[in-house]
Amino acid sequence: MNPDSQLKQSSSRLHAAIIMDGNGRWAASHGLPRLAGHFAGAKTIRRIVAAAPALGIGTLTLYAFSKNNWERPAEEVGGLMRLFEDFFRTEREWWIEQGVRLSVIGRRNRLPSPLLMEIENSQYLTRGGERLHLRLAVDYSGQDAILDAAQRLDSGSPATRERFSSLLAQVVHAAAEDQNVDLLIRTGREQRLSDFLLWEIAYAELFFSPRYWPDFTPEDFKGIMEEFWRRERRFGRLSPALEQPPLAEMPLPVSV
Ligand code: FPP
Repeated sequence: MNPDSQLKQSSSRLHAAIIMDGNGRWAASHGLPRLAGHFAGAKTIRRIVAAAPALGIGTLTLYAFSKNNWERPAEEVGGLMRLFEDFFRTEREWWIEQGVRLSVIGRRNRLPSPLLMEIENSQYLTRGGERLHLRLAVDYSGQDAILDAAQRLDSGSPATRERFSSLLAQVVHAAAEDQNVDLLIRTGREQRLSDFLLWEIAYAELFFSPRYWPDFTPEDFKGIMEEFWRRERRFGRLSPALEQPPLAEMPLPVSV
């Protein structure tokens, strides 16, 4: 099947996650301060959000700020927090027009209160969006989320994947139905997971783009989706082409 028709067929079904890396190096390559790279990165988010529904994406999770990012210089952290706050305030009208529902996942109790207010307002005002569920991970750590969820497991009942997924969703303020990621993209030339969605990407297809995030385009995204459809997702099973008939139907080896 050609990728374009597959993209249309799958409309609003897939969950894509993106590690938006390379803002700082993009800024350095343009002789600009690091924060200018983050500003340019925010513009890329808008272009990628606009393109996502037509590429078959129903849920898009973006890694905006990791737990470890608190260790960056105070000026960069403060600049990012203000950028997030402005971003939520200025984007939400457009999200409403585009049918985008926003959720912020991660830890909340270290975020500045003006940012928290913008998060709450944006989540509330975009709650009716049905074309795309945009999830931004802020103060997020996959390992911490797993630890927190494990501590909430009730020793009296069996620990199933479903129960654990639902606890994991609770600890990061997410909805349980959004847990499984179909594809993970990382821009910016590095090839690592950086503590992002460690449980949720168990069966995700991985893609690494050499572009710095501010240079990542909807065309790049479309190319990745075409490659996604060319790959065969087996979830640990055999490819249908390699499947053998049941044992009962197989000729037994003849002993001599
Ligand atoms: C990685 O680039 C990016 C981040 C740490 C933050 C991601 C933030 C944005 C895309 C900015 C806009 C986001 C929102 C939600 C408004 P880096 O600084 O690690 O780049 P480097 O590896 O080149 O230094």
